[in-house]
Amino acid sequence: MAIKYIPEPFRIKSVEPLKILSKEERIQKIKEAKYNLFLLKGEDCYIDLLTDSGTNAMSQDQWAGVMRGDEAYAGASSYYKLIEAGKDIFNYDYIQPVHQGRAGEKVLFPLLLGAGKLAISNMFFDTTRAHVELTGARCIDCVVEAAKDPARRIPFKGNMDVERLERLIGEHGAENIGMIVMTITNNSAGGQPVSMKNMRDVAAIAKKHHILLNIDAARYAENAYFVQRDEAEYKNKSIKDIIREMFSYADTFTMSAKKDAIVNMGGLIGVKDASSPLIIKTKANCICYEGFFTYGGLSGRDLEAMAIGLYEGIDNDYLRYRIGQIEYLAARLDDAGIGYQSPAGGHGIFVDAAAMFPQIPYTEYPGQVLAVELYKEAGIRSCDIGSYMLGNDPDTGKQLHADFEFTRLAIPRRVYTQAHTDVMADALVEIKKRASQIRRGYRITWEPPILRHFQAHLEPIC
Ligand code: F0G
Repeated sequence: MAIKYIPEPFRIKSVEPLKILSKEERIQKIKEAKYNLFLLKGEDCYIDLLTDSGTNAMSQDQWAGVMRGDEAYAGASSYYKLIEAGKDIFNYDYIQPVHQGRAGEKVLFPLLLGAGKLAISNMFFDTTRAHVELTGARCIDCVVEAAKDPARRIPFKGNMDVERLERLIGEHGAENIGMIVMTITNNSAGGQPVSMKNMRDVAAIAKKHHILLNIDAARYAENAYFVQRDEAEYKNKSIKDIIREMFSYADTFTMSAKKDAIVNMGGLIGVKDASSPLIIKTKANCICYEGFFTYGGLSGRDLEAMAIGLYEGIDNDYLRYRIGQIEYLAARLDDAGIGYQSPAGGHGIFVDAAAMFPQIPYTEYPGQVLAVELYKEAGIRSCDIGSYMLGNDPDTGKQLHADFEFTRLAIPRRVYTQAHTDVMADALVEIKKRASQIRRGYRITWEPPILRHFQAHLEPIC
């Protein structure tokens, strides 16, 4: 194996014991959870890779910040500290805290969208898609074709297909497009980054057609690291300078701080221009849905931890270790001939479940099959990012066919060690050995109308 694990730029001060259930117990637990990984108890998972969102380990500075948190209802010092950090890093005039990313979407999107409108993105994450649809608008994903071939190793597979974007605007009319969303990194495409060039090109198109450009900024720091590493003209630029340039091309951002701000709860909305009428409307919606605009649904201690985490998340040594961990896991899969969305992206490995189980059709959810197998094999909790997650067409009710059938192993920040990472790789290697014997997938026995994968019940097809 050519890749060396990059040692952690921290040491462990507080530990959280893990329980390891026997294989028989795990088989029983997943059956009781109706084969839905979201319905398992956290304590029954040995390695929990369901998400990298809010599952991060905070630093000693952040925990000290928790004690300093100012719980004033209005104008807390923790709020001002957060706003200063936000303005400094993103260079936006208005920063609004919210309790998490989807709260930002709930506050901002109805101001931009509604029935008859469209939103176009390099790819919508599921809750983002849901918040677009809740306004009555519809979503179009417009990622580059290369993203649809997991084996194709080229940088920046998260990019927007700019030619198709132009075509779509021509077909639908710029006046019907409420916003363009650049998701950085592109989570649903495998944590794949977006290049600065692509951002610049998309911004030029948005400007030409007077369409608002919003960044879905959940993993903006990881994206900046890829720009620094892989886009020649940014080699000597700091992560912060790269972020400032990237955000300068957009008008607004919504951000789940539960990822790159390395906190357990939090989110932000940003509005670049102080004169934007969106600011006053954002404050009003925030007061209705989240609470007064100086706390935005968060405790003062959360605001304080986020203000500190924003800086820790853009540290170059941390990002090198962070992406290095994902690359180490990817290299182990390469050795075993296991396909994944390659090259490795930012926040996890998206195993190509369609390649592992070619015998299982998308209607039987190969990504879910592998997720269940990983739990049975090693107590690892992962999730499907494929047709099972995508769900049904909101107009026809028909099962949509996703571009990918991935099983996502999302890696929490600063939580798992190299030995844990080896457990992940070993489990996948074992499953691959018996993959051809798994002949059938799952059927859904009950599902809610939207975001079904969180709640649905499944059963194996015999
Ligand atoms: N946008 C992206 C790209 C996301 O990945 C997420 C969340 C959100 C928005 C919503 O943020 O959870 O704070 O409300 N992604 C998590 C995940 C849940 O597991 O990928 P949130």
